[in-house]
Amino acid sequence: MRKAKVDPHVQCIAELEALAGERLAKSVFDYYAGGAGDELTLKDNVLAFDRIRLRPRMLVDVSDIDMSTNLFGCQIEMPILVAPMAFQRLAHEEGEIGMAGAAAKHKTIMVASTLSTCTLEEIAESAKDRIWFQLYVYKDRDITLELVKRAEKAGYRAIVVTVDSPVLGRRLRDMHNQFQLPDHVKISNLRDRFLEQFPVVDHQSGLAAYIASLYDRSLSWKDLQWIVELTELPVLVKGVLRGDDAESALHAGAAGIVVSNHGGRQLDTTIASIDALSEVVQAVQGKIPVLVDGGIRRGTDVIKALAIGAAAVLVGRPLLWGLSLGGADGVELVLDIFKDELANAMQLAGAADIKALTPDLLAARS
Ligand code: FNR
Ligand code: LAC
Repeated sequence: MRKAKVDPHVQCIAELEALAGERLAKSVFDYYAGGAGDELTLKDNVLAFDRIRLRPRMLVDVSDIDMSTNLFGCQIEMPILVAPMAFQRLAHEEGEIGMAGAAAKHKTIMVASTLSTCTLEEIAESAKDRIWFQLYVYKDRDITLELVKRAEKAGYRAIVVTVDSPVLGRRLRDMHNQFQLPDHVKISNLRDRFLEQFPVVDHQSGLAAYIASLYDRSLSWKDLQWIVELTELPVLVKGVLRGDDAESALHAGAAGIVVSNHGGRQLDTTIASIDALSEVVQAVQGKIPVLVDGGIRRGTDVIKALAIGAAAVLVGRPLLWGLSLGGADGVELVLDIFKDELANAMQLAGAADIKALTPDLLAARS
């Protein structure tokens, strides 16, 4: 049904991306699909999964597959969350409201970006409380404080502080396109002329100029502690790629870590996030959950991440392709594909539940 609406022939995420590329305006597709610099990390996030091989177990009873897990008291039906992504109304008028509704139907969690184009209250309502808030810290601390308090009041279950973006990566596609938001798309959480739209700049990404003028580049681990103390909600740190930073996050009171290189959009040539996962898992020693995102496109990618030690994964761009092709229905189609592929991969790997996704499933790496 959903498939017929988008395209009856679609069977996997790569095919959806090709379709979205035909459908979206060039500057929007470039913003969504693109990465920083020569886009080496963008590509490597995907290639790194190809380099990992599986050692499936045979003759395990896989007649019932249980993909559910629990994160901070929230039961989810599969270990795949919606990564925070800005400006979703560029993909479809339903924007973040459509994305959140689809995530809630699949009983998983959406992480809503500070830079959403629907308000955080509208998104929470659509998400039916299956929602975390991703925080960007502005120089004006009152803005941060107010966003956190609004998120608490609206029923968000966690705060995700993104730490890899003191400035924006050099995204050549956006620089060439002089990326801007159209008039009808605003940063809806911030009702202020200077905060809800980009400055107009020549030969530059409007988003890069916005972030350069407003984000707090002085942010340090001490400030993370300030955020942890500000709220009762669990605070996750997104954008960690090293064991020592994971220890600093723990020390500052983080309740979880997202291993991420921002989908290859920040510092180009950083290691693939899946290649950073093991070091972070070891540093954290099971004290808090570690999640990972970047390049997850198939069910087998998910089992590899969980076998290395992730509690769950986040998926980014594929969900934007779904949204752009069919609003909430398109997002549900993407989640359907992931769910089918994950069930299939678990059955064939001999893992009936996610606890059975352990490191012995992975071939030794040279
Ligand atoms: C992002 N990402 C992101 N991260 C974040 O913390 N806040 C944000 O507002 C955004 N915005 C954003 C927009 C777009 C268009 C993309 C593609 C990504 C990064 C995102 O959360 C995640 O780390 C990556 O997208 C994961 O990689 P994949 O799954 O896209 O390969
Ligand atoms: C991005 C920012 C907004 O990746 O996080 O585009």
